Amino acid sequence: MKKVLVTGTDGQLGIKIKELSKKISSQEFIFTDIDELDINNEKSVKTFCNNNSIGLLINCAAYTAVDKTEDDYDNALKTNCEAVKNLANASIEHHFKIIHISTDYVFDGNANTPYSEIHQTNPVNLYGKTKLEGEKALMKINNDSIILRTSWLYSEHGNNFLKTMLKLGKESKFLKVVFDQTGTPTYAGNLAEAILIICNQYLEKNLWHSGIYHFSNQGVCSWFDFAHEIFKLSGIKTPIIPVLSNEFPTKATRPKYSVLDKSKICNIYNIKIKHWTEGLKECFENL
Ligand SMILES: NC(=O)c1ccc[n+]([C@@H]2O[C@H](COP(=O)([O-])OP(=O)(O)OC[C@H]3O[C@@H](n4cnc5c(N)ncnc54)[C@H](OP(=O)(O)O)[C@@H]3O)[C@@H](O)[C@H]2O)c1
Repeated sequence: MKKVLVTGTDGQLGIKIKELSKKISSQEFIFTDIDELDINNEKSVKTFCNNNSIGLLINCAAYTAVDKTEDDYDNALKTNCEAVKNLANASIEHHFKIIHISTDYVFDGNANTPYSEIHQTNPVNLYGKTKLEGEKALMKINNDSIILRTSWLYSEHGNNFLKTMLKLGKESKFLKVVFDQTGTPTYAGNLAEAILIICNQYLEKNLWHSGIYHFSNQGVCSWFDFAHEIFKLSGIKTPIIPVLSNEFPTKATRPKYSVLDKSKICNIYNIKIKHWTEGLKECFENL
């Protein structure tokens, strides 16, 4: 039986895919992170794919340090684009499908209605640029792939906004959080479920609809609203003050608006997406 290979398994999304895959006893998964398979290493990718019978690859591996990328572009490009070429070339040679994860940061954030998959890309930071290059490289080599763009990813694992707020909320007298960047938080558990639906439809029914898709939870909020809901659910009483982004200058510019239109994935894959507040509640249950 052909196997499902997951790369970058020790990250936020990879861990949730690994947890949820335990419910799918009919399918064999191979979970790797950089120690088992460094996707930057072309030779390792070739050897790994020669030695394992792979039917589908879910690429969760990425260079995700957004601000660090401004000073470390070449390394970020290596993982977010050059390594994706290694995977794409292997997929052609060994005839397997790829689900690759990308980001809302491929857009400039100047829109005021949700971004659809055909909206013009125009990243405003180098991380977004490397991810966009990765998307293009993948589709150039193997356009029978699926790219899933997501936004504001968090989970009970790893470092993310939720974890930072819980920590600062307990340590601080008050907190300032920006309210002029809007988007949609995405619980990694809900994204992992959607990925496994796509995966199952292919493995069990041979249904595969290649192309770019958007997935986040439903609804819209600012980082301030997200922090407010986190404190509400966790019972933290620390006051939160809404501030403008210019009070928190960051090395990398963030898009002001990055809400994704999810109608394509809902229609084609019949996926029901939870509101971001429901995703957050689910995450709290797993914390
Ligand atoms: N986090 C977000 O807010 C967000 C938003 C939109 C889209 N995304 C995208 O969603 C995907 C998953 O993100 P995430 O938050 O789960 O990322 P993450 O937590 O940073 O996990 C990425 C994993 O990939 C590993 N990795 C890095 N370089 C590798 C290499 N050369 N070979 C193999 N593994 C490597 C990392 O290891 P190390 O930790 O040792 O580097 C880490 O375990 C990424 O494609 C990301 O671009 C994320």
